[in-house]
Amino acid sequence: MEHLVNQQIISLNPKLAGPPKGENTIRLDKGELPYPPSAHVIKAIVDATATINRYPAVLGGFLRQSLANYTGAKPEQIIIGNGSDDLIELIIKVFVKPTEEVLLPIPTFFVYWHSTQVMGGNTVLVNRSEDWGLDIDSLLQKVTPRTKVLFIANPNNPTANLVSRDTILKVLNNVNCIVVVDECYYEICQETVADLVEQHPNLIILRSLSKSFGLAGMRVGYAIANETIIDYLYRAAQLFPVNKLAIVAAIAALEDMEYVRSNIEKICQERAKLTSNLEKLGLLVYPSATNFLFIRTQSLGIPSAKLVEALRARNILVQDFGLKPGLDAYYFRTAVGTPSENQQLLLGLKDAIAKF
Ligand SMILES: Cc1ncc(COP(=O)(O)O)c(C=O)c1O
Repeated sequence: MEHLVNQQIISLNPKLAGPPKGENTIRLDKGELPYPPSAHVIKAIVDATATINRYPAVLGGFLRQSLANYTGAKPEQIIIGNGSDDLIELIIKVFVKPTEEVLLPIPTFFVYWHSTQVMGGNTVLVNRSEDWGLDIDSLLQKVTPRTKVLFIANPNNPTANLVSRDTILKVLNNVNCIVVVDECYYEICQETVADLVEQHPNLIILRSLSKSFGLAGMRVGYAIANETIIDYLYRAAQLFPVNKLAIVAAIAALEDMEYVRSNIEKICQERAKLTSNLEKLGLLVYPSATNFLFIRTQSLGIPSAKLVEALRARNILVQDFGLKPGLDAYYFRTAVGTPSENQQLLLGLKDAIAKF
């Protein structure tokens, strides 16, 4: 059988379901919003179930107009996908031929790497600077005629930092490839370069409804770019990439911005409290423009994998980044949870640290 499988797929790791997550598991490993959707969103989903015998509208139906109203872009400048993960793969499918290059400043979001592998492209990795900013000179040195796409997560996952608009402009003014600026956390940091798509036809902005809008389980993401790019992306996309319940949930969530803003306010308050309490435990916490914190454990002399394992034993899940590309053995990431989840995380860490 293996001789029939594309070579680049054979070299990928199998996906593991992981242990079942019980009711009491504290899930801080996936960067999710800890609050449920609003009653308005739930009602929209329930109402739409009556017509799920019908396919969803092509091109996302009214959601495209709702996103145009929300972003200020034209509907023709927007494509909707099954989460922004889906759009990352679609961008690579449209622009990268096997063996062509995708440039990644690392550490960064692993899906850029994974989707490039799946499509048979080559990833070219460039280390970020010590403060996790972009090392523009090193980055530009790696650009070749084979470079088709550069991904900049802004803010970056897992490092949680933003790079400035000036830095992004410098990149745009020096490369000809597609530049994807992934603004998955836009509502939290309020920084965007979406207004630059008019002047820069090679710029694609990625957004998500998974984080600030709390719809991670629904899978809705979108991209903003000039009409030509959007047209090509839609040509290659599936006919119905976003399901009907996700479309109505997204429209309803966009109608309920007050709820979104109040959740973000709670997350930002908790983020400040959690940061200072983690620092009191002797950990280094990087400034965050997101709903998660990136943490260095080296000052305690404890590799992050050990702390993450000790937390898991207490049913608290955080994401280990020790020894991931561009990192040494001392990093992990935690979402900002509810006050009680954050409290349990702190207690778990205090206990684990005391035992080492
Ligand atoms: C930078 C970045 N981009 C994209 C995504 C994926 O978002 P979605 O749930 O819309 O696929 C994430 C999720 O963690 C992320 O951190």
